[in-house]
Amino acid sequence: MKYLQIKRVNSLNGQIKISGAKNASLPLIAMTILAKNSVSIKNLPHVADINTLLKLLSNLGASFDRDSNPDITTVDTTTLHDTKANYEIVKTMRASILVLGPILARFGHCEVSLPGGCAIGQRPVDLHLKALEQMGAHIDIKAGYIEATAPNGLKGCEIIFDKITVTGTANIVMAAALADGITTITNAAREPEVVQLCEILNASGVNIDGIGTAILTIHGTSGKLINIDEFSVIPDRIEAGTYLCAGAISRSEVTLTDVEPKHLGAVISKLEEMGSSFTMTEDTITIHPSETINAVKIVTQEYPAFPTDMQAQFMAVATQANGTSIIEEKLFENRFMHVSELQRMGADISLNGHTATITGGTKLSGTDVMATDLRASSALVLAGLIADGVTDVHRIYHLDRGYDALEVKLQNVGADIVRLSE
Ligand code: UD1
Repeated sequence: MKYLQIKRVNSLNGQIKISGAKNASLPLIAMTILAKNSVSIKNLPHVADINTLLKLLSNLGASFDRDSNPDITTVDTTTLHDTKANYEIVKTMRASILVLGPILARFGHCEVSLPGGCAIGQRPVDLHLKALEQMGAHIDIKAGYIEATAPNGLKGCEIIFDKITVTGTANIVMAAALADGITTITNAAREPEVVQLCEILNASGVNIDGIGTAILTIHGTSGKLINIDEFSVIPDRIEAGTYLCAGAISRSEVTLTDVEPKHLGAVISKLEEMGSSFTMTEDTITIHPSETINAVKIVTQEYPAFPTDMQAQFMAVATQANGTSIIEEKLFENRFMHVSELQRMGADISLNGHTATITGGTKLSGTDVMATDLRASSALVLAGLIADGVTDVHRIYHLDRGYDALEVKLQNVGADIVRLSE
């Protein structure tokens, strides 16, 4: 197994190019199931989750090409014929559930293994299923599989999500795209990744009103497949936020390129509260860190508020703050697995339910630590940048699910980080 070895750096300096967003790419790849053409996608990140979804689609009969042109991936689902997403794939990536809506809408049936729990919480998919039932699908859970059928097609209807769900919104938008009639989703997710999905569908002939708001109105095509033109995936705001935290924690000036500053409002404003300042252009952000890091209070919430996917990285930065920071996790019940690993490095953190209290100013020491989920992994890397001695981050397959060439990007700005084999 591979692990990352990180040694303390004095400071980082230089530019980091941000990759395409993993969480935008996943629904966009699933969206190709609705297409009658082979779809060209630019700026897909090279991360394991993308390979997993492409493999899932090719197991079902689709084909893809990532090699002919390094900048463009083509996905051709016109030959897709199998409609069962097996446990073997779904267990490695929960977002596989994203094929349910589009496959059901196109074929009238679909089976997807139930994703099950994961390290950060239960993460049920009940809201996806309830909405599909409202659209006329019949859903059975049999032997660990969701079996969905809609022999007469899906019908547009009014859906009110009890909770805001990102992949749930994406799934139902895709199902509604081919449904008969108009679907309204109230309490829809407003994440930029959902916005891009809606914008591309809208440009492909599926009329969607309310894009970027909590109420989406989708005019279905009554089963007609759509033509999707080439598009480019938006920059990864979580990857960008992670490298801004690398600048903040190591008190280094780092410039991100190919980034979308508009998507990072909550992250930038928290880093400003912590003392950093920024210069920005349309697609670059430079962090000017402060020597003293201020303590903060963070509550994770849906976009445009502070993202849960940045919580672990900010906790790493907060260990170096002057004073006591409070982080409240509102979205996932168990997203504090990184706490015990940071404590092993010397961080002073106490947990009370969904709230972590971080007493800043502790000296961190390098040691062996274990990645427990995707974003927890990057928090440990950030801590490793400033910990005394050597930090070995194990189980980095979590990190590889969502960070494109993390160690290469950090090496390019002067970090002492290498990928080694156990
Ligand atoms: C997506 C992101 C993930 C991010 C999360 C929250 C992708 C591939 N993943 O995950 O990185 O951390 O949004 O921003 O885009 N819920 C239910 N029932 C459902 C669906 C969700 O109770 O049917 C709950 C979840 O358990 C959670 C909350 O709703 O507590 C939000 O989850 P959701 O937005 O669905 O997260 P994901 O889409 O899985």
